[in-house]
Amino acid sequence: MRSTIIITALAAAGSVNAGVAGTKNTKRATVTPITTKGNAFFKGEERFYVRGIAYQPGGSSANLDPLADPKICLEDIKRFADLGINVVRVYSTDNTKDHKECMEALADAGIYVALDVNNPKYSINREHPHPSYNAVYLQSVFATIDEFAKYDNTFAFFSGNEVIHDEAESTLAAPYVKATDRDMRAYIKARKYRPIPVGYSAADVSKNRMQTAKYFNCGTDEERSDFFAFNDYSWCKSSFKTSGWDVKVKNFTDYGLPIFLSEYGCTINGRDFHEVEALMSDKMTGVYSGGLMYEYTMEENGYGIVNITKGKSITDQTGKRIELPEFKAYKEALEEFPAPKGDGGYVKTTKAQECPPADDDWLVENSDLPEFPAEAKKYLENGAGKGPGLDGDGSQWAGEAPPESGTIGTGSGGSGSGTGTGSGSGASSSPTDNAAGFAVAGPINKAPFVVTGLAVLFTLVGAVAL
Ligand SMILES: *[C@@H]1O[C@H](CO)[C@@H](O)[C@H](O)[C@H]1NC(C)=O
Ligand SMILES: *[C@@H]1O[C@H](CO)[C@@H](O)[C@H](O)[C@H]1NC(C)=O
Repeated sequence: MRSTIIITALAAAGSVNAGVAGTKNTKRATVTPITTKGNAFFKGEERFYVRGIAYQPGGSSANLDPLADPKICLEDIKRFADLGINVVRVYSTDNTKDHKECMEALADAGIYVALDVNNPKYSINREHPHPSYNAVYLQSVFATIDEFAKYDNTFAFFSGNEVIHDEAESTLAAPYVKATDRDMRAYIKARKYRPIPVGYSAADVSKNRMQTAKYFNCGTDEERSDFFAFNDYSWCKSSFKTSGWDVKVKNFTDYGLPIFLSEYGCTINGRDFHEVEALMSDKMTGVYSGGLMYEYTMEENGYGIVNITKGKSITDQTGKRIELPEFKAYKEALEEFPAPKGDGGYVKTTKAQECPPADDDWLVENSDLPEFPAEAKKYLENGAGKGPGLDGDGSQWAGEAPPESGTIGTGSGGSGSGTGTGSGSGASSSPTDNAAGFAVAGPINKAPFVVTGLAVLFTLVGAVAL
Protein backbone atom coordinates (compact mmCIF):
# COMPACT_ATOMS: atom_id res chain seq x y z
CA MET A 1 0.00 0.00 0.00
CA ARG A 2 2.71 2.37 1.05
CA SER A 3 4.59 1.68 -2.14
CA THR A 4 1.52 2.41 -4.25
CA ILE A 5 1.28 5.84 -2.71
CA ILE A 6 4.94 6.50 -3.37
CA ILE A 7 4.66 5.38 -6.95
CA THR A 8 1.67 7.64 -7.49
CA ALA A 9 3.50 10.58 -6.00
CA LEU A 10 6.51 9.94 -8.18
CA ALA A 11 4.37 9.57 -11.26
CA ALA A 12 2.85 12.95 -10.49
CA ALA A 13 6.27 14.46 -9.99
CA GLY A 14 7.35 12.90 -13.26
CA SER A 15 4.49 14.43 -15.18
CA VAL A 16 5.40 17.89 -13.95
CA ASN A 17 8.80 17.39 -15.50
CA ALA A 18 7.51 15.82 -18.69
CA GLY A 19 9.37 17.16 -21.62
CA VAL A 20 12.79 16.74 -20.12
CA ALA A 21 14.51 13.90 -21.96
CA GLY A 22 13.86 10.57 -20.35
CA THR A 23 10.97 11.62 -18.14
CA LYS A 24 8.08 11.43 -20.53
CA ASN A 25 5.15 9.43 -19.25
CA THR A 26 5.52 6.78 -21.86
CA LYS A 27 5.79 3.10 -21.08
CA ARG A 28 9.22 2.35 -19.65
CA ALA A 29 11.61 0.04 -21.42
CA THR A 30 11.63 -3.40 -19.84
CA VAL A 31 15.01 -4.33 -18.52
CA THR A 32 16.34 -7.86 -18.22
CA PRO A 33 18.31 -8.10 -14.96
CA ILE A 34 21.89 -9.38 -15.17
CA THR A 35 22.61 -12.74 -13.55
CA THR A 36 25.75 -14.77 -13.00
CA LYS A 37 26.31 -18.29 -14.26
CA GLY A 38 29.61 -20.10 -13.99
CA ASN A 39 32.37 -17.56 -14.63
CA ALA A 40 30.20 -15.19 -16.66
CA PHE A 41 27.33 -12.71 -16.59
CA PHE A 42 24.12 -13.22 -18.50
CA LYS A 43 21.29 -11.05 -19.74
CA GLY A 44 18.60 -13.68 -20.04
CA GLU A 45 20.12 -16.37 -22.24
CA GLU A 46 22.72 -14.07 -23.71
CA ARG A 47 26.25 -13.61 -22.39
CA PHE A 48 26.71 -10.12 -20.95
CA TYR A 49 29.98 -8.19 -21.25
CA VAL A 50 30.67 -5.00 -19.35
CA ARG A 51 31.35 -2.28 -21.95
CA GLY A 52 31.16 0.64 -19.63
CA ILE A 53 32.55 3.80 -18.14
CA ALA A 54 33.35 5.22 -14.71
CA TYR A 55 31.03 8.13 -13.90
CA GLN A 56 32.21 10.43 -11.13
CA PRO A 57 31.58 14.07 -12.06
CA GLY A 58 33.63 16.39 -9.87
CA GLY A 59 36.02 13.58 -8.94
CA SER A 60 36.12 11.95 -5.55
CA SER A 61 36.47 15.19 -3.66
CA ALA A 62 33.05 16.34 -4.88
CA ASN A 63 31.60 13.14 -3.33
CA LEU A 64 28.61 13.76 -5.53
CA ASP A 65 25.78 11.38 -6.38
CA PRO A 66 25.17 12.04 -10.08
CA LEU A 67 22.16 9.71 -10.20
CA ALA A 68 20.24 11.79 -7.65
CA ASP A 69 20.11 14.86 -9.88
CA PRO A 70 18.38 14.69 -13.27
CA LYS A 71 19.93 18.06 -14.19
CA ILE A 72 23.26 16.25 -14.18
CA CYS A 73 22.49 12.71 -15.29
CA LEU A 74 20.16 13.43 -18.19
CA GLU A 75 22.83 15.47 -19.98
CA ASP A 76 25.26 12.59 -19.62
CA ILE A 77 22.91 9.71 -20.38
CA LYS A 78 22.41 11.15 -23.88
CA ARG A 79 26.16 10.91 -24.34
CA PHE A 80 26.38 7.44 -22.81
CA ALA A 81 23.82 6.31 -25.39
CA ASP A 82 25.83 7.94 -28.13
CA LEU A 83 28.99 6.17 -26.95
CA GLY A 84 27.16 2.85 -26.98
CA ILE A 85 28.12 1.78 -23.46
CA ASN A 86 26.01 -0.61 -21.40
CA VAL A 87 27.24 0.01 -17.80
CA VAL A 88 28.17 3.06 -15.73
CA ARG A 89 30.05 2.75 -12.48
CA VAL A 90 28.99 5.25 -9.81
CA TYR A 91 31.31 5.69 -6.82
CA SER A 92 29.17 7.53 -4.35
CA THR A 93 25.47 7.49 -3.78
CA ASP A 94 23.17 9.29 -1.39
CA ASN A 95 20.79 6.77 0.10
CA THR A 96 18.41 9.49 1.33
CA LYS A 97 17.68 10.60 -2.23
CA ASP A 98 15.42 9.38 -4.98
CA HIS A 99 17.07 7.92 -8.07
CA LYS A 100 14.04 7.08 -10.16
CA GLU A 101 14.40 9.58 -12.94
CA CYS A 102 18.08 8.88 -13.61
CA MET A 103 17.73 5.11 -13.24
CA GLU A 104 14.78 5.02 -15.63
CA ALA A 105 16.51 7.22 -18.17
CA LEU A 106 19.48 4.85 -18.01
CA ALA A 107 17.15 1.87 -18.42
CA ASP A 108 15.60 3.51 -21.47
CA ALA A 109 19.09 3.80 -22.93
CA GLY A 110 19.82 0.13 -22.17
CA ILE A 111 22.38 1.04 -19.51
CA TYR A 112 23.03 -0.75 -16.22
CA VAL A 113 24.65 0.57 -13.05
CA ALA A 114 27.52 -0.86 -11.01
CA LEU A 115 27.43 0.86 -7.66
CA ASP A 116 29.94 1.38 -4.87
CA VAL A 117 28.04 1.16 -1.57
CA ASN A 118 30.69 3.07 0.39
CA ASN A 119 31.45 6.74 0.80
CA PRO A 120 33.98 8.72 2.84
CA LYS A 121 31.91 8.74 6.02
CA TYR A 122 30.44 5.25 5.78
CA SER A 123 33.16 2.78 4.86
CA ILE A 124 35.71 0.33 6.21
CA ASN A 125 38.75 2.24 7.42
CA ARG A 126 41.86 0.66 5.94
CA GLU A 127 44.04 1.47 8.94
CA HIS A 128 41.47 0.74 11.62
CA PRO A 129 39.20 -1.82 10.04
CA HIS A 130 37.94 -3.46 13.20
CA PRO A 131 36.00 -0.56 14.76
CA SER A 132 34.75 0.55 11.34
CA TYR A 133 32.93 -2.73 10.74
CA ASN A 134 29.79 -2.06 12.77
CA ALA A 135 26.00 -1.86 12.64
CA VAL A 136 25.94 1.85 11.82
CA TYR A 137 28.09 1.19 8.77
CA LEU A 138 26.01 -1.78 7.68
CA GLN A 139 22.79 0.19 8.04
CA SER A 140 24.12 2.67 5.49
CA VAL A 141 25.20 -0.12 3.13
CA PHE A 142 21.84 -1.86 3.44
CA ALA A 143 19.89 1.38 2.92
CA THR A 144 21.79 1.83 -0.34
CA ILE A 145 20.84 -1.70 -1.37
CA ASP A 146 17.18 -0.93 -0.54
CA GLU A 147 17.28 2.13 -2.75
CA PHE A 148 18.80 0.40 -5.78
CA ALA A 149 17.47 -3.15 -5.58
CA LYS A 150 14.15 -1.95 -6.96
CA TYR A 151 15.70 -1.06 -10.31
CA ASP A 152 16.20 -3.94 -12.71
CA ASN A 153 19.13 -2.11 -14.28
CA THR A 154 21.17 -2.26 -11.08
CA PHE A 155 23.85 -4.60 -12.39
CA ALA A 156 26.11 -5.08 -9.38
CA PHE A 157 27.26 -3.70 -6.03
CA PHE A 158 30.91 -3.20 -5.10
CA SER A 159 31.56 -4.08 -1.47
CA GLY A 160 34.77 -2.03 -1.51
CA ASN A 161 37.22 -0.33 -3.81
CA GLU A 162 41.01 -0.67 -3.40
CA VAL A 163 40.82 -1.03 0.38
CA ILE A 164 43.69 -3.53 0.19
CA HIS A 165 46.69 -1.80 -1.26
CA ASP A 166 50.38 -2.32 -1.70
CA GLU A 167 51.34 -2.17 1.95
CA ALA A 168 51.18 -5.59 3.55
CA GLU A 169 49.39 -4.09 6.57
CA SER A 170 46.47 -3.15 4.37
CA THR A 171 45.71 -6.83 3.77
CA LEU A 172 44.51 -6.96 7.39
CA ALA A 173 41.44 -5.02 6.26
CA ALA A 174 40.49 -7.88 3.92
CA PRO A 175 38.39 -9.88 6.45
CA TYR A 176 36.24 -6.81 7.15
CA VAL A 177 35.63 -6.06 3.50
CA LYS A 178 34.84 -9.70 2.87
CA ALA A 179 32.48 -9.71 5.85
CA THR A 180 30.70 -6.70 4.33
CA ASP A 181 30.54 -8.55 1.00
CA ARG A 182 29.03 -11.57 2.81
CA ASP A 183 26.55 -9.39 4.73
CA MET A 184 25.37 -7.65 1.56
CA ARG A 185 24.52 -11.01 0.01
CA ALA A 186 22.79 -12.10 3.22
CA TYR A 187 20.79 -8.88 3.26
CA ILE A 188 19.74 -9.21 -0.39
CA LYS A 189 18.56 -12.73 0.36
CA ALA A 190 16.81 -11.85 3.63
CA ARG A 191 14.94 -8.99 1.98
CA LYS A 192 13.98 -11.30 -0.91
CA TYR A 193 15.50 -9.08 -3.56
CA ARG A 194 16.66 -10.61 -6.81
CA PRO A 195 20.24 -11.94 -6.58
CA ILE A 196 22.10 -8.75 -7.52
CA PRO A 197 25.80 -9.64 -7.91
CA VAL A 198 28.11 -8.44 -5.11
CA GLY A 199 31.90 -8.31 -5.38
CA TYR A 200 35.08 -6.43 -4.55
CA SER A 201 36.97 -3.99 -6.78
CA ALA A 202 40.68 -4.57 -6.15
CA ALA A 203 43.67 -2.35 -6.75
CA ASP A 204 46.09 -3.79 -9.27
CA VAL A 205 48.92 -4.72 -6.93
CA SER A 206 51.18 -7.47 -8.22
CA LYS A 207 52.32 -8.75 -4.85
CA ASN A 208 48.83 -9.42 -3.53
CA ARG A 209 46.62 -9.59 -6.61
CA MET A 210 46.32 -13.37 -6.66
CA GLN A 211 45.93 -13.64 -2.88
CA THR A 212 43.17 -11.04 -2.90
CA ALA A 213 41.38 -12.81 -5.74
CA LYS A 214 41.62 -16.16 -4.00
CA TYR A 215 40.58 -14.74 -0.67
CA PHE A 216 37.32 -13.31 -2.02
CA ASN A 217 36.51 -16.67 -3.60
CA CYS A 218 37.35 -19.02 -0.73
CA GLY A 219 35.34 -20.42 2.15
CA THR A 220 31.63 -21.20 2.23
CA ASP A 221 29.23 -20.21 -0.54
CA GLU A 222 27.80 -17.55 1.80
CA GLU A 223 31.27 -16.03 2.13
CA ARG A 224 32.38 -16.21 -1.49
CA SER A 225 31.80 -13.17 -3.70
CA ASP A 226 29.58 -13.35 -6.77
CA PHE A 227 32.37 -11.90 -8.95
CA PHE A 228 35.85 -10.43 -8.72
CA ALA A 229 36.98 -7.16 -10.31
CA PHE A 230 40.20 -5.18 -10.40
CA ASN A 231 41.39 -1.81 -11.59
CA ASP A 232 44.08 -2.19 -14.22
CA TYR A 233 46.24 0.50 -15.82
CA SER A 234 48.89 -1.74 -17.32
CA TRP A 235 47.72 -1.50 -20.95
CA CYS A 236 49.26 1.77 -22.11
CA LYS A 237 48.42 1.78 -25.84
CA SER A 238 50.30 -1.46 -26.02
CA SER A 239 49.35 -5.04 -26.71
CA PHE A 240 48.01 -8.16 -25.09
CA LYS A 241 51.54 -9.37 -24.35
CA THR A 242 53.32 -6.11 -23.57
CA SER A 243 50.61 -5.15 -21.09
CA GLY A 244 50.91 -8.47 -19.32
CA TRP A 245 47.24 -9.16 -19.88
CA ASP A 246 48.19 -12.54 -21.36
CA VAL A 247 49.49 -13.58 -17.93
CA LYS A 248 46.42 -12.13 -16.24
CA VAL A 249 44.31 -14.40 -18.43
CA LYS A 250 46.50 -17.40 -17.72
CA ASN A 251 46.55 -16.79 -13.96
CA PHE A 252 42.79 -16.36 -13.73
CA THR A 253 41.89 -19.34 -15.91
CA ASP A 254 39.96 -21.71 -13.61
CA TYR A 255 39.33 -18.92 -11.12
CA GLY A 256 35.72 -20.01 -10.82
CA LEU A 257 33.83 -16.69 -10.78
CA PRO A 258 33.03 -13.92 -13.28
CA ILE A 259 35.85 -11.35 -13.55
CA PHE A 260 35.92 -7.91 -15.13
CA LEU A 261 38.09 -4.81 -15.02
CA SER A 262 36.40 -2.34 -12.70
CA GLU A 263 38.63 0.41 -14.16
CA TYR A 264 41.05 0.53 -17.07
CA GLY A 265 42.44 3.22 -19.33
CA CYS A 266 46.11 4.13 -18.96
CA THR A 267 46.90 7.57 -20.43
CA ILE A 268 50.67 7.34 -20.67
CA ASN A 269 51.09 6.81 -24.43
CA GLY A 270 47.88 8.50 -25.50
CA ARG A 271 44.66 6.57 -25.86
CA ASP A 272 43.11 4.54 -28.66
CA PHE A 273 41.13 2.24 -26.36
CA HIS A 274 42.22 -0.93 -28.09
CA GLU A 275 41.86 -2.51 -24.68
CA VAL A 276 38.32 -3.09 -25.95
CA GLU A 277 39.67 -5.21 -28.81
CA ALA A 278 41.51 -7.47 -26.37
CA LEU A 279 38.64 -7.64 -23.89
CA MET A 280 36.17 -8.66 -26.61
CA SER A 281 38.51 -11.17 -28.25
CA ASP A 282 38.51 -14.90 -27.69
CA LYS A 283 41.90 -14.49 -26.00
CA MET A 284 40.04 -13.05 -23.02
CA THR A 285 36.32 -13.83 -23.11
CA GLY A 286 36.69 -17.29 -21.60
CA VAL A 287 38.00 -15.66 -18.42
CA TYR A 288 36.99 -11.96 -18.47
CA SER A 289 33.66 -10.25 -18.98
CA GLY A 290 34.76 -6.82 -20.23
CA GLY A 291 35.57 -3.71 -18.27
CA LEU A 292 34.88 -0.11 -17.33
CA MET A 293 36.91 2.63 -18.95
CA TYR A 294 38.08 5.25 -16.47
CA GLU A 295 36.50 7.79 -16.85
CA TYR A 296 33.75 10.00 -18.27
CA THR A 297 34.44 13.49 -16.90
CA MET A 298 37.77 15.25 -17.17
CA GLU A 299 39.13 15.87 -13.70
CA GLU A 300 42.53 17.05 -12.55
CA ASN A 301 44.06 13.60 -12.94
CA GLY A 302 43.43 13.76 -16.68
CA TYR A 303 41.46 10.61 -17.50
CA GLY A 304 38.18 12.12 -18.74
CA ILE A 305 36.63 12.22 -22.18
CA VAL A 306 34.15 15.05 -21.53
CA ASN A 307 34.86 18.46 -19.98
CA ILE A 308 32.14 19.95 -17.84
CA THR A 309 32.52 23.71 -17.67
CA LYS A 310 32.84 24.94 -14.14
CA GLY A 311 29.73 25.67 -12.15
CA LYS A 312 29.48 27.62 -8.95
CA SER A 313 31.26 24.94 -6.94
CA ILE A 314 32.77 21.50 -7.33
CA THR A 315 29.38 19.93 -6.61
CA ASP A 316 27.72 21.97 -9.33
CA GLN A 317 28.22 19.66 -12.29
CA THR A 318 25.45 21.07 -14.43
CA GLY A 319 27.75 23.03 -16.75
CA LYS A 320 28.12 22.66 -20.49
CA ARG A 321 29.52 19.34 -21.73
CA ILE A 322 32.41 19.51 -24.17
CA GLU A 323 33.31 16.22 -25.82
CA LEU A 324 37.09 15.79 -25.99
CA PRO A 325 38.84 13.87 -28.82
CA GLU A 326 38.98 10.78 -26.59
CA PHE A 327 35.19 10.68 -26.56
CA LYS A 328 35.21 9.93 -30.27
CA ALA A 329 38.11 7.50 -29.89
CA TYR A 330 36.31 5.48 -27.24
CA LYS A 331 33.07 5.51 -29.22
CA GLU A 332 34.94 4.26 -32.28
CA ALA A 333 36.65 1.50 -30.32
CA LEU A 334 33.29 0.29 -29.00
CA GLU A 335 31.90 0.31 -32.54
CA GLU A 336 34.89 -1.44 -34.04
CA PHE A 337 35.08 -4.14 -31.36
CA PRO A 338 31.56 -5.30 -30.53
CA ALA A 339 30.73 -7.97 -27.99
CA PRO A 340 31.27 -11.36 -29.59
CA LYS A 341 28.38 -13.62 -30.49
CA GLY A 342 27.97 -16.92 -28.73
CA ASP A 343 29.02 -17.79 -25.22
CA GLY A 344 32.63 -16.60 -25.45
CA GLY A 345 33.94 -19.91 -24.15
CA TYR A 346 32.86 -19.28 -20.56
CA VAL A 347 33.09 -21.98 -17.89
CA LYS A 348 29.64 -23.20 -16.89
CA THR A 349 30.27 -23.94 -13.24
CA THR A 350 31.72 -21.89 -10.41
CA LYS A 351 34.26 -23.17 -8.00
CA ALA A 352 35.89 -22.03 -4.78
CA GLN A 353 39.61 -21.34 -4.37
CA GLU A 354 41.77 -22.34 -1.43
CA CYS A 355 42.22 -19.42 0.96
CA PRO A 356 45.70 -17.96 0.46
CA PRO A 357 48.31 -18.83 3.10
CA ALA A 358 49.78 -15.98 5.15
CA ASP A 359 53.20 -14.71 4.08
CA ASP A 360 55.15 -11.44 4.08
CA ASP A 361 52.78 -9.88 1.54
CA TRP A 362 49.53 -11.35 2.82
CA LEU A 363 49.12 -11.05 6.58
CA VAL A 364 45.69 -12.65 6.99
CA GLU A 365 46.28 -15.78 9.07
CA ASN A 366 43.15 -17.78 8.42
CA SER A 367 39.80 -17.75 6.69
CA ASP A 368 37.73 -16.61 9.72
CA LEU A 369 35.56 -13.59 9.13
CA PRO A 370 34.33 -11.19 11.79
CA GLU A 371 30.92 -12.09 13.13
CA PHE A 372 27.91 -10.22 11.86
CA PRO A 373 27.23 -7.46 14.44
CA ALA A 374 24.28 -8.43 16.68
CA GLU A 375 22.83 -4.90 16.52
CA ALA A 376 22.55 -5.24 12.73
CA LYS A 377 20.38 -8.37 12.85
CA LYS A 378 17.20 -6.30 13.00
CA TYR A 379 17.91 -4.92 9.53
CA LEU A 380 17.74 -8.40 8.05
CA GLU A 381 14.27 -8.81 9.49
CA ASN A 382 12.83 -5.33 9.11
CA GLY A 383 14.87 -3.64 6.42
CA ALA A 384 17.42 -0.90 6.94
CA GLY A 385 15.02 2.04 7.14
CA LYS A 386 16.15 5.51 6.19
CA GLY A 387 19.81 5.77 5.25
CA PRO A 388 22.17 8.42 6.65
CA GLY A 389 23.06 9.91 3.26
CA LEU A 390 26.49 11.37 2.61
CA ASP A 391 26.44 13.97 5.38
CA GLY A 392 25.56 11.95 8.48
CA ASP A 393 27.74 11.58 11.54
CA GLY A 394 29.78 8.83 9.92
CA SER A 395 30.27 5.24 10.98
CA GLN A 396 33.99 4.65 11.24
CA TRP A 397 34.14 5.05 15.00
CA ALA A 398 30.55 4.16 15.75
CA GLY A 399 31.58 0.79 17.15
CA GLU A 400 34.37 2.01 19.38
CA ALA A 401 35.84 5.26 20.65
CA PRO A 402 38.65 6.58 18.48
CA PRO A 403 42.19 6.63 19.86
CA GLU A 404 42.96 9.69 21.99
CA SER A 405 45.37 11.29 19.57
CA GLY A 406 48.11 10.54 17.18
CA THR A 407 47.65 8.92 13.84
CA ILE A 408 43.99 9.42 13.31
CA GLY A 409 41.81 12.47 12.99
CA THR A 410 38.68 12.59 15.06
CA GLY A 411 37.36 16.08 14.61
CA SER A 412 35.32 15.34 11.52
CA GLY A 413 33.37 12.30 12.45
CA GLY A 414 36.34 10.15 11.65
CA SER A 415 35.87 10.50 7.97
CA GLY A 416 39.04 9.02 6.68
CA SER A 417 42.60 8.18 7.18
CA GLY A 418 45.16 6.09 5.55
CA THR A 419 48.25 5.94 3.55
CA GLY A 420 48.10 6.29 -0.12
CA THR A 421 50.98 4.84 -1.98
CA GLY A 422 51.11 4.23 -5.63
CA SER A 423 54.71 3.54 -6.24
CA GLY A 424 57.33 0.93 -6.26
CA SER A 425 55.49 -2.33 -5.92
CA GLY A 426 54.63 -3.29 -9.40
CA ALA A 427 51.22 -1.71 -9.03
CA SER A 428 50.11 -0.19 -12.27
CA SER A 429 49.53 3.45 -11.58
CA SER A 430 45.97 3.81 -10.51
CA PRO A 431 44.17 7.11 -10.36
CA THR A 432 41.75 5.85 -7.74
CA ASP A 433 43.88 5.07 -4.79
CA ASN A 434 41.87 5.46 -1.68
CA ALA A 435 42.25 5.84 2.00
CA ALA A 436 39.35 4.24 3.72
CA GLY A 437 37.59 1.82 1.52
CA PHE A 438 36.11 4.31 -0.87
CA ALA A 439 37.23 5.64 -4.19
CA VAL A 440 39.44 8.66 -4.11
CA ALA A 441 39.88 9.40 -7.74
CA GLY A 442 41.27 12.83 -7.93
CA PRO A 443 44.17 15.19 -8.04
CA ILE A 444 45.84 13.83 -4.93
CA ASN A 445 46.36 10.40 -6.27
CA LYS A 446 47.82 10.51 -9.68
CA ALA A 447 50.51 7.96 -8.98
CA PRO A 448 53.34 7.61 -8.37
CA PHE A 449 53.31 9.39 -5.08
CA VAL A 450 53.77 8.66 -1.45
CA VAL A 451 52.05 10.66 1.21
CA THR A 452 51.62 10.21 4.87
CA GLY A 453 48.35 9.16 6.37
CA LEU A 454 47.93 12.54 7.94
CA ALA A 455 48.34 14.37 4.68
CA VAL A 456 45.66 12.23 3.08
CA LEU A 457 43.50 12.70 6.12
CA PHE A 458 43.62 16.45 5.97
CA THR A 459 43.00 16.51 2.27
CA LEU A 460 39.96 14.31 2.69
CA VAL A 461 38.59 16.03 5.73
CA GLY A 462 39.04 19.34 3.99
CA ALA A 463 37.16 18.10 0.98
CA VAL A 464 34.38 16.54 2.99
CA ALA A 465 34.00 19.57 5.24
CA LEU A 466 33.46 21.93 2.32
C1 LIG B 1 50.74 -15.14 -12.02
O1 LIG B 1 50.88 -16.21 -11.09
C2 LIG B 1 52.21 -16.43 -10.65
C3 LIG B 1 52.21 -17.68 -9.82
O2 LIG B 1 51.26 -17.58 -8.79
C4 LIG B 1 52.70 -15.21 -9.91
O3 LIG B 1 54.04 -15.40 -9.49
C5 LIG B 1 52.63 -14.00 -10.82
O4 LIG B 1 52.97 -12.82 -10.10
C6 LIG B 1 51.23 -13.83 -11.38
N1 LIG B 1 51.24 -12.78 -12.35
C7 LIG B 1 50.25 -11.88 -12.44
C8 LIG B 1 50.40 -10.86 -13.51
O5 LIG B 1 49.29 -11.90 -11.71
C1 LIG C 1 39.14 20.66 -20.90
O1 LIG C 1 39.55 21.01 -19.59
C2 LIG C 1 40.94 21.08 -19.43
C3 LIG C 1 41.25 21.27 -17.96
O2 LIG C 1 40.19 21.88 -17.28
C4 LIG C 1 41.50 22.18 -20.29
O3 LIG C 1 42.89 22.23 -20.16
C5 LIG C 1 41.12 21.89 -21.74
O4 LIG C 1 41.53 22.96 -22.55
C6 LIG C 1 39.64 21.71 -21.87
N1 LIG C 1 39.36 21.31 -23.24
C7 LIG C 1 38.34 21.77 -23.92
C8 LIG C 1 38.22 21.27 -25.33
O5 LIG C 1 37.52 22.52 -23.45
